[in-house]
Amino acid sequence: MGTKHAEHSFAMVIFGASGDLTKRKLMPALYDLYRNGRLPEKFYVLGTGRTVYTDEEYKSYIRTELEEFITQSGQDPKWMDSFVSHLYYFPMDPSSTDHYQQLKQRLLQLTVDQESDILFYLATPPVLYGVIPLHLKEVGLNGEHTRIIVEKPFGTDLESARRLNEIYASVFEENQIYRIDHFLGKETAQNILAFRFANEIFKPVWNRNYIDYVEITAVENLGIENRGGYYETAGALRDMVQNHLIQLAALIAMEPPTRFNADHFRNEVVKVYEALTPLTEKQMEEYVVRGQYTAEGNTVSYREEKNVDPQSKTETFVAMRVGFDNWRWSGVPFYIRTGKQMPTKVTEVVIHFKKIPHRMFQYTSGSHPVYNTLILRIQPNEGIVLRFGMKAPGPGFDIKQVSMDFTYQSLGQQAVGDAYARLIEDCIQGDPTLFTRSDAVEASWKFFTPILDYWEKNTNAPLYGYPAGTWGPPASEGIMHEHGAKWTNPCKNLTNTDQYCEL
Ligand code: BG6
Repeated sequence: MGTKHAEHSFAMVIFGASGDLTKRKLMPALYDLYRNGRLPEKFYVLGTGRTVYTDEEYKSYIRTELEEFITQSGQDPKWMDSFVSHLYYFPMDPSSTDHYQQLKQRLLQLTVDQESDILFYLATPPVLYGVIPLHLKEVGLNGEHTRIIVEKPFGTDLESARRLNEIYASVFEENQIYRIDHFLGKETAQNILAFRFANEIFKPVWNRNYIDYVEITAVENLGIENRGGYYETAGALRDMVQNHLIQLAALIAMEPPTRFNADHFRNEVVKVYEALTPLTEKQMEEYVVRGQYTAEGNTVSYREEKNVDPQSKTETFVAMRVGFDNWRWSGVPFYIRTGKQMPTKVTEVVIHFKKIPHRMFQYTSGSHPVYNTLILRIQPNEGIVLRFGMKAPGPGFDIKQVSMDFTYQSLGQQAVGDAYARLIEDCIQGDPTLFTRSDAVEASWKFFTPILDYWEKNTNAPLYGYPAGTWGPPASEGIMHEHGAKWTNPCKNLTNTDQYCEL
């Protein structure tokens, strides 16, 4: 997977090519692949969108944006010029049938090799996800050499996800459909699999007998930026939890796939989602806490953001407890948390192992009792930390908690790759392993939809305010009390393990 260069020539058609995602993520990722010699000699990218550009204007627009969105070290004017020479543009309204015939003609003119793969990338507002594939079918752009990549959110609840799946299934085979969840493109998320399944020593302890609880945190110190319109229809549960966070939980909770390929890996992911314990309404009240940021210092409240309803009840923070009904995890809570305008940006998984059955050693006054924890840092300062107790030097047997730390930085230059580059390359090579399959999307929505329904029905269900720059509503601590636990809050400027603070 992902190790050989694409041999086949390909065309990528981007819908939404004048939008934010294209300039921030897709073009830099394609450039990255190009610069590293990972694209075939013959390829082109045809951007489409409502904004009118000529080919030359589009090339020049992307050339300028690349300077902002690729790292300084990646900027090489010669390579950038050469990359944009592969770009073309076709102005069109993606909701109008007429334009697809013309799009097809344009593709035929540009394509030199009839056997080339054509990848359609949907970087448009989600309302178009159900429309574009049907138009592609009408003009016969759904043959065996085509693939479609679709951004999240795939549906807004179980019913809409099912409807979308039906539409896609009526146009493409499942192995032509690439539902992207960019968290799976992250090197460190993939490393959870390597860590678990390429090492023997963790296997015996990776279960309810040794693990007390699991925390998964993905928080950001930014607000919703300019995405008020979208965010109002989404909220944190749909934006982060239903896809990214539950995907990370699946990597922690899944059984080892027999083989590492699309079918085996995705079968195991679905099994995890299907094992999620459905929440009763009472548990929704107790185990799910939602919040919304309020103004603090120079930061405006969520309700004052552009395109946000001043009375909005959209959540920008969710903390919740989930569990899995299976032999490995029965009784082990997974605490999941995400939020905007938090003190820092960090994504990490913390595995808390059970306490020792009996303490025979002393603890230095003021030191904490020893807990074994394993921290899988997805970002930033990508790495792994194992915390354990050791004898404090000196007389007697005082025990002190220490950490063993691995950082990706220590691997040198070719450290952590870009998530989009990885996923786009996999799609070019026709490998859907790291993309979400239809049954997984539905299984995940099946668990989360009742929570959304509950909030919709119970308009007075608590939505706590939390000042921007804090760790969210105190009620989020409450969901852990029953288990005698509390959230691990990394310090603001976390650069190494010592900066983990107990708050
Ligand atoms: C996106 C969400 O999918 O993931 C954003 O829509 C969020 O709201 C982003 O900011 C976080 O991704 P990352 O890779 O920056 O952690």
